Amino acid sequence: MATISTPWFQAARGSYYRTCPVTTLKVDSAAETLIIVNAVSAVVCLLLGGTAALLIALTRWQVVHLLPADWFYRLLTAHGIDMLIGWIVFFEIAGLHFGSTVLLNARHAAPKLAWVAFALMVIGALTVNVIVLMGQGDVMFTAYVPIKAHPLFYLSYIFFAVGALLGVATFFVNLVVAKREKRYEGSMPLVVFGLMTAAILAVYTLLQGALAVVPAFFWSLGW
Ligand code: HEM
Repeated sequence: MATISTPWFQAARGSYYRTCPVTTLKVDSAAETLIIVNAVSAVVCLLLGGTAALLIALTRWQVVHLLPADWFYRLLTAHGIDMLIGWIVFFEIAGLHFGSTVLLNARHAAPKLAWVAFALMVIGALTVNVIVLMGQGDVMFTAYVPIKAHPLFYLSYIFFAVGALLGVATFFVNLVVAKREKRYEGSMPLVVFGLMTAAILAVYTLLQGALAVVPAFFWSLGW
């Protein structure tokens, strides 16, 4: 039976790929690592947010009423951020890397930019969790006046959003390069088309999120 440890071959432009023994699709090594790190980060966020979910649910259950009020709102904030932003966006970026390379039999055309994007997202996700757990951002899933958090809370959102935007940008770069290098014929596969729709929505959502958070960041600095 074929195993996952199939040999790597060198392709054009110095990229390496292996042939997936199950699907026979070509897997670019740079894309594979990016897919794995983003998907693992997503699951880490799910674990953090899931643990917080359990604790806040046990607090909402009046018989148990586990946490005091400040920790309830602290973990509710962490839960909202890790579930609705961390888990979902990291996984979406993993999916975008997958769809724009493996599903098109194509290489990742901008791996360095994708790593910068990933680093920004990790810095943002780590910082926001630390700030919230330190009690400097008990603002729940909001960035609205007058509930103020530490400036680093808003800055970490901005880091994460800019990182995610760069990650999405590499998806579009990959699509263009794959088409130019004739990695697929005719129209793109339906799944990739769906991912492209998600990517367009992500650009709109992330830009809108950043627009909301940037003024809140300046306001939290007292400007
Ligand atoms: C991917 C799945 C989930 C997402 C995206 C999600 C997202 C959210 C968000 C955005 C909030 C509002 C946070 C805020 O107002 O600051 C919230 C609240 C909450 N979530 Fe989740 N959640 C998920 C799964 C769960 C699960 C599995 C549980 C239970 C074990 C849970 C329990 C709660 C509770 C108890 C609240 C607070 C409700 C309240 O007191 O009004 N969540 N969730």
